[in-house]
Amino acid sequence: MEIIILPSYDQVSREISNRIISAVHKKPDLVLGLATGKTMLGIYQKIVQDYKKGRVDLRKVKTFNLDEYIGFDSSDSVTFHSYMNKNFFSQVNIPPENIFMLPSRPKNIDAACHKFEEEIKKAGGIDLQILGIGREGHIGFNEPSSSLQARTRVKTLTKTTLKDNFGLKKGPRFALTMGIGTIMDSKEIILAASGKQKAEAVAGAVEGPISASCPASILQFHKQARIIIDEKAASLLKRKDYYKWVWKHKKEVDDVIKD
Ligand code: GLP
Repeated sequence: MEIIILPSYDQVSREISNRIISAVHKKPDLVLGLATGKTMLGIYQKIVQDYKKGRVDLRKVKTFNLDEYIGFDSSDSVTFHSYMNKNFFSQVNIPPENIFMLPSRPKNIDAACHKFEEEIKKAGGIDLQILGIGREGHIGFNEPSSSLQARTRVKTLTKTTLKDNFGLKKGPRFALTMGIGTIMDSKEIILAASGKQKAEAVAGAVEGPISASCPASILQFHKQARIIIDEKAASLLKRKDYYKWVWKHKKEVDDVIKD
């Protein structure tokens, strides 16, 4: 894993949006896995800004969103359909037929999950998956104790997730989510985290044992996973100084190889 610790949330958002944009420059028909949540807002804002300045064309990009609450019309403000339309899709030029999201009112849950997996396969697999992390280490909605090999399916949300996402309001209890196996099939993964409230989950993911108790810890097994976080989210990492040292020297390694 590559662990990149940056001073602020704004820099985390810039680093990740730049990486997404340069992946699109390299492969205009990039298959991009997307996440929701507060952490992602800065990333979407920055891609939208760059798109409006003509720095990136997303016409050929295909997107697959990680998860969706169930039991609502897709236009309901609670859904990730609404979140994505508001914060990203309505502001860039990804054609609607290239946008894949799990349904918020599936007629048949198993069939909907199977179809989603097939669509990912048909697109050639996810090139770059962006992830956030829950306070208890979830990725997508793979809550603690999720199978580390699971495919897309329905999950019951933990009370912590409900509290974080809905506060005192009554929220949905179930969601469809890509499984950890589905996420791990992505060619490249970037996990973003910001703030002190994520420090424990980040420490578990990066330095803890690989365990279903902290689903994000499975990323230690991925060949191309990057954890891009701010100082506060990194505050409980024991080897923080080493990760910073590695990042600082990264360019020099390339220069040494070239010599
Ligand atoms: C949500 C989503 C995750 C997201 C995480 C963090 O519940 N299912 O995909 O990464 O929780 O959200 P936030 O960035 O709002 O803390």
